[in-house]
Amino acid sequence: DDDWLSPVYKDFYKYPLPIPKDKEKKASYYNTTTGQTIDYYEVEVKEFEQQIYRNLKPAKLIGYDGMSPGPTFRMEKGREAVVRFVNRSPKPLSVHLHGSYSRAPFDGWAEDVTNPGQYKDYYYPNKQSARTLWYHDHAEHITAENAYFGQAGFYILHDPAEDALGLPNGTYDVPLALSSKRYNRDGTLFSPASETNTFEGDVIHVNGEPWPYFEVEPRKYRFRLLDSSISRQFKLYLQADGGAKVPFQIIASDTGLLTKPVQSDNLEIAMAERWEIIVDFSAYAGKNVTLRNNRDVQKDEDYNSTDKVMRFVVGRTVTSTENNQNPPSSLRTVPFPPRKSGVDRTFRFEKSNSKWTINGVTFSDVNNRILAKPERGKVEVWQLENNSGGWSHPVHIHLVDFQIISRSGGKRSVLPYEKEALKDVVLLGENEKVQVIARYAPWDGVYMFHCHNLIHEDHDMMAAFNVSALSN
Ligand code: C2O
Ligand code: CU
Repeated sequence: DDDWLSPVYKDFYKYPLPIPKDKEKKASYYNTTTGQTIDYYEVEVKEFEQQIYRNLKPAKLIGYDGMSPGPTFRMEKGREAVVRFVNRSPKPLSVHLHGSYSRAPFDGWAEDVTNPGQYKDYYYPNKQSARTLWYHDHAEHITAENAYFGQAGFYILHDPAEDALGLPNGTYDVPLALSSKRYNRDGTLFSPASETNTFEGDVIHVNGEPWPYFEVEPRKYRFRLLDSSISRQFKLYLQADGGAKVPFQIIASDTGLLTKPVQSDNLEIAMAERWEIIVDFSAYAGKNVTLRNNRDVQKDEDYNSTDKVMRFVVGRTVTSTENNQNPPSSLRTVPFPPRKSGVDRTFRFEKSNSKWTINGVTFSDVNNRILAKPERGKVEVWQLENNSGGWSHPVHIHLVDFQIISRSGGKRSVLPYEKEALKDVVLLGENEKVQVIARYAPWDGVYMFHCHNLIHEDHDMMAAFNVSALSN
């Protein structure tokens, strides 16, 4: 039934991987409150076109600075920033810096929208340790549409401790945003706006280009993987010509470095998760290494090509051997919260009255949506339960970095690389119960938590918690 198909796409690995350009600051000021220099940036959210099918109409998108992914912010720990987001698009928006412990007024609260013609200045402390963050839309009920049509980009925080490890850097450190879309017969982008359950798409993109290729040298690379799709999860693997799997080392997660590198030949990544890997191409000079997927590749012919992601075309020369050694066997002392027993709160992710809910509540239920009041500075264990049958939910808790302490009830336990990580998103698979532990700090304020399948988030599997000095 080809009504479900995007127009046939044949140009696999034909167009190069786009690398979003770095965002330049506009000015620097002396912050009289902190006594520090503060950098100022300006981003315009605006429409642009992208020719996906060379003989059909271009797709119309809306992105940060008219590109998607948006420009990459590269920040140094300790250097504060203000970013002005100017809305030159026809729709309301709200910007969330995912992975930052931003103060509540700058966290992209879903109702705090910037309307067309308006701007808002967001303050980012940049005081956390090195990590791969991403900024994306968070406007109430239209997050899926806004993010899908282009409002997502990387925000990379560096720090001296990580820089000292000698990991591949510069052109050998590459962000890869995976997403999944669907096109209309005329080449324009199909809108997921009327979906209420899920939207997987049949055209896989990396950094905005369908099934691209990337020329690499036969040496080590660091890849910062982000699943920026609205509903598609991946189980990734690398395949050499001839079919053999290429192993790699997983070195970092949502909140930065793991305790140590974890060797693997596959990687599960769900919406909003970030996992970073080191791949050594030195044994593949003159060959290809293809990034492939084996999750949610439906038997359905419409989704046939979703087993492909992108291709690395390995050259024969190495121009720099700097930072080409094995990563150290210990990466950092991850600041795991002190363990405690028991469960402080339980949240059920389920469908009730044909809405996606958390403990039966939706975000629109303004009088009931604050589901927890953690005392600031306290460590809590939250049990997340998936009571929605065949669905899975990548759950994101704003403000905090958490440790996954158990996973039960379904097919999986805590994955080997999850064990070494602090996270801000965890996949709650079918029938699973997952316990996460976090310190609710450093700020007071009302923050969101939600499913990061953006269709679920919009309809309306999102709630809030209120951190304050007074416990409850
Ligand atoms: Cu990545 Cu509440 O979002
Ligand atoms: Cu969900």
